[in-house]
Amino acid sequence: MAEIIKLDFDREMVEQAYDRWAPVYDLVFGGVFSKGRKAAIAATNRIGGRVLEVGVGTGISLPQYAPHVRIFGTDISEAMLQKAKKRVTELGLKNVEGLAVMDAEKLEFPDNSFDVVMAQYVVTAVPNPEVALDEFARVLRPGGELIILTRVSADAGVRRFIEQRLQPVVRPLGFRTAEFAWSRYAQWLAGARGMELAERRLVPPLGHFSLVRFRKIDVAKAA
Ligand SMILES: C[S@@+](CC[C@H](N)C(=O)[O-])C[C@H]1O[C@@H](n2cnc3c(N)ncnc32)[C@H](O)[C@@H]1O
Repeated sequence: MAEIIKLDFDREMVEQAYDRWAPVYDLVFGGVFSKGRKAAIAATNRIGGRVLEVGVGTGISLPQYAPHVRIFGTDISEAMLQKAKKRVTELGLKNVEGLAVMDAEKLEFPDNSFDVVMAQYVVTAVPNPEVALDEFARVLRPGGELIILTRVSADAGVRRFIEQRLQPVVRPLGFRTAEFAWSRYAQWLAGARGMELAERRLVPPLGHFSLVRFRKIDVAKAA
């Protein structure tokens, strides 16, 4: 089996990378990820209530939430968040409760605070994804959903080979291409965290990304 290339991926490096992306982010990634975002937001709007969007970036998704959904957005990059704040003001988005710099691995909210936790193209950018996923599960109320748009790396074959070779190249840009086979997400889920898989489906582009919905098991209802 080919060796997995793992590189250091620290918070400061990611923060700086996205501070640099901020001025051109919407131009480069607005269109390419739009179908995935549309699907994730539709799933969120169906649940409604209070939503935490982690890694909200420039706030590109914010205008698409239904007016009855209340959103709090967080991100590690101050420059990305400035763009989001400008968007909220310019569009008068009254359903955005707040925007704050916050690390996905250390959320400053009490347990069970949100009906939906949403992270679009974020999990693979976080240095310790399992720590972030644990945090997402913690702040979610029982019965609520964790909705992520995320890269699922190939287990084998040509795509795996390319993803591994690309990893060192894209690292300074704040991306990780390898290391995220489905088995990694499944292992997190199997770790008795009170979460279950509700849905997993491919979204464009190129079948490299998936929309994944996890539900926090409501123990009181299940009993
Ligand atoms: C690929 S962008 C996605 C932005 C947006 N969600 C979208 O759909 O376009 C990844 C975002 O995650 C943020 N991010 C990376 N690491 C983070 C962390 N540890 N905590 C919070 N946000 C983080 C980045 O600053 C960036 O805004």
